[in-house]
Amino acid sequence: MMITRVFSGIQPTGTLHIGNYFGAVRNWAAMQHDLECIICIVDYHAITIDVDPKTLRQASLNMAMDLIASGIDPEKTILFVQSDVPEHTELAWILGCVTSFGDLSRMTQFKDKSSREAFISSGLFTYPVLQAADILLYLADGVPVGEDQVQHLELSRRIARRFNSRFGETFPEPEPVVGKKGGRIMSLSDPTAKMSKSSGEAHYVGVMEAETSIRKKVRSAVTDMGLESGDAMSPGVANLFEILELSTEATGEADLVDTLRADFAAGTLMYSKLKDTVFEQLMEILRPIQQKRAKLEASGEVLELLRFGAEKAQTIAQDTIVQVRSVVGLGTANP
Ligand code: TRP
Repeated sequence: MMITRVFSGIQPTGTLHIGNYFGAVRNWAAMQHDLECIICIVDYHAITIDVDPKTLRQASLNMAMDLIASGIDPEKTILFVQSDVPEHTELAWILGCVTSFGDLSRMTQFKDKSSREAFISSGLFTYPVLQAADILLYLADGVPVGEDQVQHLELSRRIARRFNSRFGETFPEPEPVVGKKGGRIMSLSDPTAKMSKSSGEAHYVGVMEAETSIRKKVRSAVTDMGLESGDAMSPGVANLFEILELSTEATGEADLVDTLRADFAAGTLMYSKLKDTVFEQLMEILRPIQQKRAKLEASGEVLELLRFGAEKAQTIAQDTIVQVRSVVGLGTANP
């Protein structure tokens, strides 16, 4: 099946890290030239756990600026904040009525997240229904996903199927879109865990982080005690090579990787040299993004860009909602 419209969402965590950039955002930016792309900053999802209302709105705006600076073109991609299109919640309610409690109980992300919360909201439990609504509201047929979202996407497909069989063919079943490699950058200070912001400062490198701070983090990345020639690569060193490969792919300096890999194989690689090269190549990618971000912030145009995105999104969303209300038999306006 040909995919024509893709949808993806990202939580407004306030800042993007290089795991998000290489694993997701870079792929979205590449896709926007060939496909209709819709990228949503999911603030309704963010409130499933305790968030500070004083910072949430700014976090959404910051995420939007980070995304645009990282290559999401708001003229090509429909970029918007979820709660600016409240149709998401209406569809989520309706889809919740064709979602089985048993299916939701099996979601591993709920089990993980709820084990960390003192107060477990029912919103956290029904989070995947809202995610299905996000996708189906736009009749998206493709969803670029990381490994951690595969189960949620599978549930979205089940929900679409159940809705269609009850109310008639309405939604396409969204397919996973697998991006280029780079889906899994690991934490610098614990290379056995995926890079994430929630593990703490030392674990991630922010796309907008100051150069001095990035240098410090890369220099102190966990490696190993130095290996003999022929030893297997430790996870920390493999992760640094991964970041280097992803960076040089874009800077055109791929030979650097070959040289360092050969040094590694010969047992002569100095990790300080590997780290300095990672830092330099990574900054080649990040510097222009950071400059663009600074300009965007100074111009103050993000609000307008998001309003423009929300209007385009809402036009599609409203059509779907009218159709859904009609087939389900809701309301009195369109009998
Ligand atoms: N749950 C996703 C995450 O945490 C974010 C998300 C919300 C999403 N709605 C979506 C991703 C729809 C893909 C499609 O990463």
